[in-house]
Amino acid sequence: MSYPYTRYLASKKSVDDRALHQGVVQELRRQLPDRPVRVLEIGAGLGTMVARLLEWELLRGGHYTLLDVDRQLLLDSRHWLCQWAHSRGLTPEITPDWLGLGDLRVYFVEAEIGDYLENEVGQPADLLIANAFLDLVEVPATLPGLFRLLVPEGLYWFTINFDGETIFQPDHPYDQEFMRVYHLGMDERERYGRPAGESRAGRHLYHHLRAAGAPPLASGSSDWVVHAQPNGSYQGDEAYFLESILTTVEEGLRGHVDGAQLDEWMSLRRSQIKSGQLLYIAHQIDFLGKAPS
Ligand SMILES: C[S@@+](CC[C@H](N)C(=O)[O-])C[C@H]1O[C@@H](n2cnc3c(N)ncnc32)[C@H](O)[C@@H]1O
Repeated sequence: MSYPYTRYLASKKSVDDRALHQGVVQELRRQLPDRPVRVLEIGAGLGTMVARLLEWELLRGGHYTLLDVDRQLLLDSRHWLCQWAHSRGLTPEITPDWLGLGDLRVYFVEAEIGDYLENEVGQPADLLIANAFLDLVEVPATLPGLFRLLVPEGLYWFTINFDGETIFQPDHPYDQEFMRVYHLGMDERERYGRPAGESRAGRHLYHHLRAAGAPPLASGSSDWVVHAQPNGSYQGDEAYFLESILTTVEEGLRGHVDGAQLDEWMSLRRSQIKSGQLLYIAHQIDFLGKAPS
């Protein structure tokens, strides 16, 4: 699997494992029906959430659909989930249409969410998941359609919603201006011909959920906090995760700030990863609730 985004999402799994708000996870556990469920995850990427929910014994069985616009990620997902299953002593069942992980059947749907909502008439889900995704779409326009994908009072679990704070440590004199411009880029972003998210998605999502008749039952922060271990190395593949974050920041800033200053800042931050000095924090919020009845 040589696709860089695949490696980025795989490296992100341990960061998300730590970040996801455990109080919200407990409420999800309480609310989930005690039977096989139908789950739809949008912007699902590599499918690391399926693995996590099985590891955390939140799912027993049922159907789990991974929806993503990126075909390569969905292709890599089958492979990554098979490797994950083997590493846990499970034998995955591989069919042309689905992948079996114990009693769970995983389906793969390649679609852009806006197009999917305009065309889809599939069976409604018991649980809708969006992890690190709703900050990439125009939420007020998307939310009513998302709730139509759920059974009445079906559960939503919207997690890792970015909320306006990107912190790199140690402090640097360019940080404040660079992060201001980086966040402005998120506010002005367009993808697939539509507005694509904003830098304060987390706090605004709360109001959008209430306005849509689906106020949260539980919420909590799910900040990414990434630093080296006492031996100076980053956990798992998290040095790669940090490299990827820096590359995203660089792409957001190039052409919008002084080029020489950006080169200086990037080279310092990259050297701080190598020396195990870089601390990275991103503020994010998780919400759990029920769709309108
Ligand atoms: C930040 S990644 C998160 C992936 C996964 N949820 C995770 O946390 O590992 C966002 C994902 O959303 C997908 N995506 C972005 N915009 C999309 C859209 N408009 N429709 C469907 N998928 C989209 C991307 O291809 C990517 O896999």
